[in-house]
Amino acid sequence: MARIPLLLASKFIFLSILSSSGVIRCTRGENNDDHGFIQSLDRESMGLKKEKLSHFRIYWHDIVSGRNATSIRVVRPSNASVTGFGIINMIDNPLTLGPNLSSKLVGRAQGFYALSSQEEVGLLMSMNFAFTEGKYNGSTITVLGRNPVFNKVREMRVIGGSGLFRFARGYVQARTNTLNLTTGDAIVEYTCYVMHY
Ligand SMILES: *[C@@H]1O[C@H](CO)[C@@H](O)[C@H](O)[C@H]1NC(C)=O
Ligand SMILES: *[C@@H]1O[C@H](CO)[C@@H](O)[C@H](O)[C@H]1NC(C)=O
Ligand SMILES: *[C@@H]1O[C@H](CO)[C@@H](O)[C@H](O)[C@H]1NC(C)=O
Ligand SMILES: *[C@@H]1O[C@H](CO)[C@@H](O)[C@H](O)[C@H]1NC(C)=O
Ligand SMILES: *[C@@H]1O[C@H](CO)[C@@H](O)[C@H](O)[C@H]1NC(C)=O
Repeated sequence: MARIPLLLASKFIFLSILSSSGVIRCTRGENNDDHGFIQSLDRESMGLKKEKLSHFRIYWHDIVSGRNATSIRVVRPSNASVTGFGIINMIDNPLTLGPNLSSKLVGRAQGFYALSSQEEVGLLMSMNFAFTEGKYNGSTITVLGRNPVFNKVREMRVIGGSGLFRFARGYVQARTNTLNLTTGDAIVEYTCYVMHY
């Protein structure tokens, strides 16, 4: 609209004086860069001034055994391969500040992981870290990515967030702290780097 020749633009204004609101909207659009139902907002008016980088380390407890399991197999392929391809677990895993489950609980990892590799034990992780601690209570970040569990470091994307983590982007690095081969329970360290306002 902005590149409409002057002559045509003045015709629009003339028409708008003459008649319908439709034409008036059209002229206004030319001036204010208003493309209908989508409007641009000033960042500062929403309190979004400077983007910050937050860093934290938390421990993710995948408890698959016992009566208080937090990670439950919801899909079991009839013919699971050695890599477990096709298995899906739904999780509500505790997130703590230390590797010990009895250390301070700061939130829960809610979502699922799916074994999505036929070549190795590789997970697709899709989960929200729902924080419950202090001012972060009620805020979340969303982690999505590929997790080949036997690699030393696995990097996954932070694709968004809510509350204090609105507009979040970043990444996490997962490192296995302990894996109990008897029970299948695992404790994984998540180092998180998150840009947000
Ligand atoms: C399960 O949780 C309940 C309630 O928190 C607790 O009393 C019980 O000891 C736990 N059981 C196991 C096996 O951890
Ligand atoms: C499962 O694997 C067995 C042995 O390899 C095979 O005989 C059977 O047909 C498979 N079943 C299905 C549903 O693929
Ligand atoms: C975890 O903490 C509990 C209680 O503080 C303690 O008894 C236990 O030894 C700790 N476990 C490890 C592995 O440090
Ligand atoms: C977090 O917020 C919820 C709902 O507002 C509240 O019930 C809960 O007690 C809070 N938790 C903590 C640890 O402050
Ligand atoms: C694995 O879990 C079992 C059952 O809770 C426990 O007896 C054993 O000590 C654990 N092994 C390790 C290496 O933590």
